[in-house]
Amino acid sequence: MIRDGEVFEDDHLPDPIVGRNRHMNEVTDALAPIEEGFRAENCFLFGPSGVGKTTVAKAAVRELRREVLEVPYAYVNCWRDYTRNAVLDQLARNLVGATVPRSSSTSRLIDLIKSNLHGPGVVILDEVDQLRGTDVLYDLHDIRGLSWIGIANREIDLFADLDDRITSRISVAYRVRFDTYGEDTITEILSRRARDGLGPGAVNEDVLARIARLSEGDARQAITALRVAVRMASQEGLSAIPERLVEDAVTNAEREVRQKTISKLNTHQRALHEVLTEEDGLIQKELYARYEETHDDPVTLRYLRENHLPKLEHYNLVEVEWDKGTKRYSLVGVDHSQSTPGQL
Ligand SMILES: Nc1ncnc2c1ncn2[C@@H]1O[C@H](COP(=O)(O)OP(=O)(O)OP(=O)(O)O)[C@@H](O)[C@H]1O
Ligand SMILES: [Mg+2]
Repeated sequence: MIRDGEVFEDDHLPDPIVGRNRHMNEVTDALAPIEEGFRAENCFLFGPSGVGKTTVAKAAVRELRREVLEVPYAYVNCWRDYTRNAVLDQLARNLVGATVPRSSSTSRLIDLIKSNLHGPGVVILDEVDQLRGTDVLYDLHDIRGLSWIGIANREIDLFADLDDRITSRISVAYRVRFDTYGEDTITEILSRRARDGLGPGAVNEDVLARIARLSEGDARQAITALRVAVRMASQEGLSAIPERLVEDAVTNAEREVRQKTISKLNTHQRALHEVLTEEDGLIQKELYARYEETHDDPVTLRYLRENHLPKLEHYNLVEVEWDKGTKRYSLVGVDHSQSTPGQL
């Protein structure tokens, strides 16, 4: 049934982008000065998971590079590369194509970028809320011609850790908020994927609309559900997806997306997840105490509360319940009823 599997990969960049004209325009406006040879405005995209933030940022850069060929560009995922040096290392390699000696110092990396960037360039800082310390934003500001598109789940104060004198020199001109998609947009996104990736007649509009309805405005969930539904139908030897498979496909897709996210967690987030796997339903203090025992280099409770726990919530790995004025954390997708035998 699948004609082109690449269409269902998470990093597939569709063309055109469906239903995000306003967002695309804001980001391309921010980048427009590059077309005149100037530094672009920094911009900051935020909103829930699976709503097209990474897609829009990459598509806007793709559009720019159609106008101005070869604009130096790099994509950095700050969840993986969260230190100042890791980000600068990525830029030295990917933005300006420098040969980077192993364990280069911060100033060496900055010099490499500065001496090899001759004109405007742009960097996408995805998951920018995962940076450990934001002084790298000042480093970037100091590199002539360089601008960035930052992406995070919530509107955060990117400059909270920076000195006021520095903050006043770095500005974010555009803040672009993303909301979840409506069902019609998700259906349209799915319909294009089906057209590009599946054989004719593999899926009908009703099935797509049903997946859209169950995916709660999250395009990643919806696309994964479509792919899972194809797999389930193929396993039954069918050449089209019957509607009866949709509900299970959506549930299985949720599990698949969660598993993928778990594999991306950093050591702190993983430790939290493991603590909750062993004992569910902990309040913040209990959770912190258990985390502190398991992690060699624990962060403070405040950092945990402001950074790692919201990340787990955002990716729908952990759910929070208010219990007598305090937050109680549980894993999503765990059948809590199993642990209380005797209940119906
Ligand atoms: N408007 C769109 N048109 C076509 N495909 C889309 C659109 N928006 C999102 N997608 C697809 O949905 C998936 C998730 O999108 P994306 O990675 O951009 O989400 P995100 O907002 O960055 O989420 P997260 O916060 O989890 O990183 C990708 O496979 C992407 O191709
Ligand atoms: Mg993203």
